[in-house]
Amino acid sequence: MSVTPPLHMPVDDTTARRKDAHLDLCAQEEVAPVENTTLFEQMFLVHCAMPELSADEVDLSTPLFGKRLKAPLLVTGMTGGTERAMQVNREIAQVAEAFGVAFGVGSQRAMAERPELTKTFAVRDVAPTTVLIGNIGLVQAVRLGVDGVRRLKDGIGADAIAVHLNPGQELTQPEGDRDFRGGYEIIGALVAALGAERVLVKETGCGLSPEVARRLVDVGVKNLDVSGLGGTSWVRVEQLRAEGVAREVGAQFSSWGIPTAAAVGTVRRAVGPGVTLIAAGGMRTGLDVAKALALGADVGGLALPLFRAHQEGGVPKVHDAMTTLVTALKQALMLTGSRTPAELRTKPRVVTGALKDWMASL
Ligand SMILES: Cc1cc2nc3c(=O)[nH]c(=O)nc-3n(C[C@H](O)[C@H](O)[C@H](O)COP(=O)(O)O)c2cc1C
Repeated sequence: MSVTPPLHMPVDDTTARRKDAHLDLCAQEEVAPVENTTLFEQMFLVHCAMPELSADEVDLSTPLFGKRLKAPLLVTGMTGGTERAMQVNREIAQVAEAFGVAFGVGSQRAMAERPELTKTFAVRDVAPTTVLIGNIGLVQAVRLGVDGVRRLKDGIGADAIAVHLNPGQELTQPEGDRDFRGGYEIIGALVAALGAERVLVKETGCGLSPEVARRLVDVGVKNLDVSGLGGTSWVRVEQLRAEGVAREVGAQFSSWGIPTAAAVGTVRRAVGPGVTLIAAGGMRTGLDVAKALALGADVGGLALPLFRAHQEGGVPKVHDAMTTLVTALKQALMLTGSRTPAELRTKPRVVTGALKDWMASL
């Protein structure tokens, strides 16, 4: 598996080194400030004292990118590009394979710049049947063009490529991008060339608004990951690396974004049923995932908790974290009397406070 380097991409290891600095910060620092909230705490599923269900009837299986997940869960893209990142990718992907859930690699920018780093993103040998999602930033996608992005996806045998949106992070990063023009155009071109079922557009912790989601659907997008506010803040991560003005402005914006619950509810309402919607950003429990499914998500995504589990205890800890997630999600379905996520969507829920306000305002 090799990727031909695009002529206009510089060959250096700055990108890969930055990814390792990000991993250090995410392993140790407070990258999800306490004031960040998904607003899932403002939503309640209603207890059903008579479920009339047997636990083995609960069916969590969910279609994604032409395959079927055993549970509606995705390990959202985190890393790649260094030896350490390779181990993170390979060991978490192995657990994803065992649980039949989806797995995303982190930004493949380093691989575009240095094709010999492909091996740090390659997990197909340990996750042969997993729904595997490649990853590239929007600005890099504009620079690489359709063929460059296709090579990233095919170079790791991915089922789809995620194009990530992160203007908040870029603006906080002193060396970050400042020009975000041409985004809808390249995404439309990718959908046309690769097929709508091979392209996912995701935020990275500041959330998708219904307006952006609608415009993306207008250019043909059929898979969205809202990655909203409430968990890892990339503005915060960059702020912790920055100095001077960038550090100060970053501090002011580290809780900037659309809370994940508000993004899921309002984006689903805006785009209708024909779009696959992933809820990520601060999802921490199976109950969070259940609430997201009830609000209209198809799949729940997590990054930081699984990365931290891996740092604490490798494969066994990630395995335990995944077991807890799936068990709690199943329990939430049982206790709402839902056999499937589709049934859960029809059940009563109570929406209060700020979440109710966001849903009414957007
Ligand atoms: C360590 C780490 C690295 C990440 N790297 C990327 C990345 O390279 N590309 C991307 O699209 N999102 C990246 N994300 C964002 C997640 O994919 C996702 O959008 C969001 O952070 C999930 O929220 P959570 O970390 O609160 O669970 C990263 C998240 C973490 C924690």
